[in-house]
Amino acid sequence: MLRGIKIWTPKAFTLEPYITSLNLVCNYTSAKSATNSQQLPRLPVPKLDDTLRKFLKSVQPFLNDEESVKTSGLIKQFNSNMGVGPKLQELLVQHATKHQNWLEEWWINTAYLEYRDPVVVFSSPGLVYPIQKFRNESDQLEYAAKTLLAALEYKSMIDKDEIPVEMMGKNPLDMCQYKKIFGTCRIPHEKRDKLSYNDSKYVTVIHNNHLFHLDLWGSDGKKLSQQQIIEALKTIKKLSCNPNNEGVGILSSENRDTWAKAYELLSKEAVNRESLLDIERSLAVLCLDRAVGVHDARSDWQRRTLAAAQTIHGGGAASNGANRWFDKTIQFIVGEDGVTGLTYEHSPAEGQPIAVMTDFIINSINKGSSKAESSASPKNPIKLKFKISDEVSQMIEAAKTNLDKLVDDLELNCFKYDKYGKNFIKSHKFSPDSYLQMAMQYAFYRLHQTPGAHYESAATRMFAGGRTETIRSCSPESIEFAKAMLDTKADPKLKMQTMSKAISAHKDYTVQALQGLGVDRHLLGLKLIAKENGIEVPELYSDAGYVRSAHMRISTSQVACKSDGFMCYAPLVADGYATCYNPRDLDINFATAAFRRHPDTGCEPYRRALEQSLQDMHDLLLLNTKSKL
Ligand code: COA
Repeated sequence: MLRGIKIWTPKAFTLEPYITSLNLVCNYTSAKSATNSQQLPRLPVPKLDDTLRKFLKSVQPFLNDEESVKTSGLIKQFNSNMGVGPKLQELLVQHATKHQNWLEEWWINTAYLEYRDPVVVFSSPGLVYPIQKFRNESDQLEYAAKTLLAALEYKSMIDKDEIPVEMMGKNPLDMCQYKKIFGTCRIPHEKRDKLSYNDSKYVTVIHNNHLFHLDLWGSDGKKLSQQQIIEALKTIKKLSCNPNNEGVGILSSENRDTWAKAYELLSKEAVNRESLLDIERSLAVLCLDRAVGVHDARSDWQRRTLAAAQTIHGGGAASNGANRWFDKTIQFIVGEDGVTGLTYEHSPAEGQPIAVMTDFIINSINKGSSKAESSASPKNPIKLKFKISDEVSQMIEAAKTNLDKLVDDLELNCFKYDKYGKNFIKSHKFSPDSYLQMAMQYAFYRLHQTPGAHYESAATRMFAGGRTETIRSCSPESIEFAKAMLDTKADPKLKMQTMSKAISAHKDYTVQALQGLGVDRHLLGLKLIAKENGIEVPELYSDAGYVRSAHMRISTSQVACKSDGFMCYAPLVADGYATCYNPRDLDINFATAAFRRHPDTGCEPYRRALEQSLQDMHDLLLLNTKSKL
């Protein structure tokens, strides 16, 4: 997801004295991604005429006639011999010849590392695993140990290139993101963060806001057994039975510049430097969370929503919000009363590889106890020490207040829609994803009677180093469809026609986005190349068409996994909604979010509108089928 577009010169806070050969701190990406061993094609630079044509169509829902004429004029001017468009295009094509993927570095910097709002809520998604019923501490720790062992097995498959290459049709997808899941940590720096890639044999465990180093291999080089990990976790719990009110982890939930300042202050002490480096180099974090009353919730959606909150922000400072290190790519969460899942820092990877790993881990846990080797000489867990100055202590207090504000602001509603799933949609010969996207368009229009600019992520992993392109789901066709559906006098046949047209327009855009031929990344590239060359950003970017169509009030992502899990995240804009969904054969898991601070949006009405839209579309299909018989 794109949050901010700024170009800054990195001003690094140097860590070099503490870097060993195991550890690599990079501005944007690592040597791990610099190779293209899969020999994948390069991301194309779309043709300027094509992008501008698609762009003009996509802004129509947001403009009146007069504005539309103005935008058309600006596009013509931009694309004329006298305009700056062709010059920028030429520069972008030149830039593309010098990079394996012309967008990769720009994207990771502008969408992630330079983005200054906290990663919590604004960037890092949560992923909820099926909620467990733990009877006691042993159950919790057994689940945690199984999670770690399954994760280690998965990491070993990644290292040996044994993860089956994902395919899109006949095209293999770039698997580089898998290599960045374990051992990666984002490091706060003023203006632009860095990523640190590492390989190691231990994890960081957090309990009661205390941090520990837990070796998963013994001194004899043998991996710990499940029982040995359980014993180590018991020791950790004993060593941290009282909550640590000065848990430094909460600082990682702060605005990135604030966290960078705190990090710099912490790093003045050798003991802190050692602990920070230890966390950065670990494979992942395991958060042993306190109970949150998940089984007291009256309904399934309330349990899911509570679990989602824990995976996104930890429920605030008094709950598990300080029991985190939000900069680590993967933080597994195993709560005392059965909330399980993970939170992940988004910059190194998209949700889909994380969801694939989730299926592996959940299957592996369900298979039962593993008969892995055991070590004759397991090492004791080590508590990480921090020396907290008064200044940092005050920053920790401020971080608690700030996190609590974020928690209060984010409304979530996560639910299983169980009336139908992908199979029903496919049986009516529609693309499930496009159908669901149109259900969201219809729901938004039903609620707000105005078009909602709508972001959907499409994977561009067919290309080396590919991440995502935006599918602009709001189209003239989607609005025509929503209007027809809401018109009580409209003929069902007309409704059906508009629905088919809207779904097929979405599918067309999707196919182009998957081929790297969408609008948004190309326009971003043209803007960034202008800035790099000291050329003024063209007026097109401040025009109503661009501004309104890029104010993404509906931010959506399909993150598919076979398990009954789901990913969740926050809206992109204050007056927006987020919808992450996992369409399964017979049902669909939805995670919706809105900001409480905005009076126009709310999860409950949005959920009702979405469910009603899905029902209406279902009924329309059945009616249409019957009328054909
Ligand atoms: N009739 C019948 N079946 C159809 C159909 C039709 N008209 N159109 C599609 N289908 C089938 C497909 O063959 C597919 O079948 P399968 O389940 O056997 O594989 C299934 O329906 C799903 O296809 P569809 O819903 O069209 O699209 P998709 O699942 O490929 O998803 C995207 C589309 C854009 C979401 C996907 O390509 C993508 O990019 N995913 C990654 C998104 C991402 O990056 N998210 C994370 C961001 S953090």
